[in-house]
Amino acid sequence: MVNSMNDEQHNGCNDLFYFPEVGSTNTWAKEHLDRFGPVGAVYTTSQTAGRGRLGRTWVNAAGQALYYTVVLKVPLAQPETLPLFASLAVADALRERYGIDCQIKWPNDLLLRGKKIVGILCEGIPDQNAIVCGIGINLAQPQSYFDAMELPHASSLALQGVAVNREEDPGRLARTLTDFGFDRALYGFEREGFAACRERYKAHCVNLGRRVRYDGGEGDAVDVDENGRLVVQDSAGQTRIFTGEVSVRGIYGMV
Ligand code: BTN
Repeated sequence: MVNSMNDEQHNGCNDLFYFPEVGSTNTWAKEHLDRFGPVGAVYTTSQTAGRGRLGRTWVNAAGQALYYTVVLKVPLAQPETLPLFASLAVADALRERYGIDCQIKWPNDLLLRGKKIVGILCEGIPDQNAIVCGIGINLAQPQSYFDAMELPHASSLALQGVAVNREEDPGRLARTLTDFGFDRALYGFEREGFAACRERYKAHCVNLGRRVRYDGGEGDAVDVDENGRLVVQDSAGQTRIFTGEVSVRGIYGMV
């Protein structure tokens, strides 16, 4: 049940806060860590100071997107692989809600028909033994929004033909992610780390079997290793291991 009052906590398995508008759900979560139990979350549909990976801005689309952050205060065997686990959790939630199969562009972008529809930003707070994992889901922005923001490689679920309910879906997805994706489905990952979901992750990973370009060269993506790193065979037959960004041929305009 979504309550539109500010800072209202809802009944359910885990704490889930909703705000009609907030600066950044990641920032709010980090500033209010004491409000959360072992697993909890905060979400909004209007985020005025959203943050993306690599110091980028995550632009707002008021009422047309879900901005969600889960707070984890449970010990994780391999916290550095949480972004990969999270991308799978979101793919599962979207499959359950809409019957769609998203692909994952390593490490954690979700793609539908080659367009980015979900971005994920995980941040550790080591002195408080907590991690926040922020997820932005493009639900219903029109093409004019992506054109105006100069985001040619991004899209929304609605633009890709998915029947999105802008009123109900943000709350439903937030609740599914909080009580299933980052709770029940977390049990194996907590203890076993990436091994618990590696094969399923690889089955979703769009990079594998494709040519990838990285700073200084090109190669074939052949594996995602036990630490969640991308394994690339370069043109000289050498194996390279990546923890950073790579471009994938056929994705985001790389030819
Ligand atoms: C990316 O650059 O792809 C990651 C984007 C992450 C955006 C989400 S929206 C909810 C949470 N709050 C933020 O400020 N960022 C994340």
